[in-house]
Amino acid sequence: MTYKESEYVAEMEVSSTLAVLMEAERLRAEGKDVIDFGAGEPDFTTPENIKDAAKRALDENFTRYTPAAGIPALKLAIIEMMKRDFSAEYEPSEVTATVGGKQAIFNAMASVVNAGDDVLIPSPYWVTFPEIVRFLRARPVFIETESKGFLLTADMVRERVTPRTRLLIINSPNNPSGRIIPPDEFRKIVEVAEEKDFQVISDECYLYFAYPPAKPFTAGQLPAELRNRVMVCGSFSKSHAMTGWRIGFALGRKEWIQSMLKILSHSTSNVNSITQKAAIEAAIGPQEPRAAMLAEYKKRRDWLVPALNQIEGIRCHTPEGAFYVLADVKGLLGGGLSDSSDFARYLLERAYVVVTPGAAFGAEGHIRISYANSLEAIRRGVERIADLSRSLRER
Ligand SMILES: Cc1ncc(COP(=O)(O)O)c(C=O)c1O
Repeated sequence: MTYKESEYVAEMEVSSTLAVLMEAERLRAEGKDVIDFGAGEPDFTTPENIKDAAKRALDENFTRYTPAAGIPALKLAIIEMMKRDFSAEYEPSEVTATVGGKQAIFNAMASVVNAGDDVLIPSPYWVTFPEIVRFLRARPVFIETESKGFLLTADMVRERVTPRTRLLIINSPNNPSGRIIPPDEFRKIVEVAEEKDFQVISDECYLYFAYPPAKPFTAGQLPAELRNRVMVCGSFSKSHAMTGWRIGFALGRKEWIQSMLKILSHSTSNVNSITQKAAIEAAIGPQEPRAAMLAEYKKRRDWLVPALNQIEGIRCHTPEGAFYVLADVKGLLGGGLSDSSDFARYLLERAYVVVTPGAAFGAEGHIRISYANSLEAIRRGVERIADLSRSLRER
């Protein structure tokens, strides 16, 4: 019997960052001191109070199916969190829990996108966005933002709208650039969606990661008619160091949520019942652990960005949020290193430093450096990058 993959899956690309990670694994196994700037997840462990809530749920045998959208107490906790922290107000019918932010994004897209539709994706983008669009037989239409320091504007969106535009995906704070769209511009972008009549998904998985003086902004703060255009996709993965628990949520108009629930009910059903109890604690329990983690990330960013900009051949913006820096390394390419993937491989082989090539995010000529790593490791890693850059420039 032969095995034949479906056309949809055959077209899907396996993450291009995998090769670098496998090579890093090999070097580690050889005993090399590998410094990892590739991680897309916090280096912190889940706060104790959240783990305790999960232990209690297990002891209380909270182990059965729940409503697909999540237990009412979780929906209320998410609503309370968004009101407390961002003055965004939602009703329980406008909320669903999801298996990570990723499922919120997938189901939100699958609910409104038809085959042949155009979906606007600002570039650089999170790798998953174009893959889902293609999986739905729609067409990703990229909006280049590098020339504007990776900041999306309403004018850029308007220029790329087509008669088939059905959806725009925005992601602020952004992975990989770390940039945050200012609130005024955010509103203008959604006004374009209103004017041209398409929907918006706002991936807010890094919403809490905004370093003062930058302020986080959620689509939930928009006036009602604009807010109804937008499905907010959020997550506890990064903000509460819960990547493995698989818990996210979506907030938006109830008809759109209802469509998403149809998909949810026929795929994963509810999020793990124990995780739901833990997420209630994450949302409305003590927030000090989250604040402490954020303060630490800020300290790392404040050290890392100037240090990178001091390296000849490397340039980067100061990211207002998330835990990534997207560094321009074009000044170090050439002479056998033709692109960002070559550069990342070279850095790993020569200096045992893992970074993610920008090509994975539609940002060729750049590398993504995740500072979800200790300040001590960051200092050592940057020193190695500086040494390697010096030797490249002396070639
Ligand atoms: C931009 C962005 N959106 C969404 C997610 C999804 O995260 P999760 O499914 O763990 O909530 C990630 C995770 O890396 C991300 O970087």
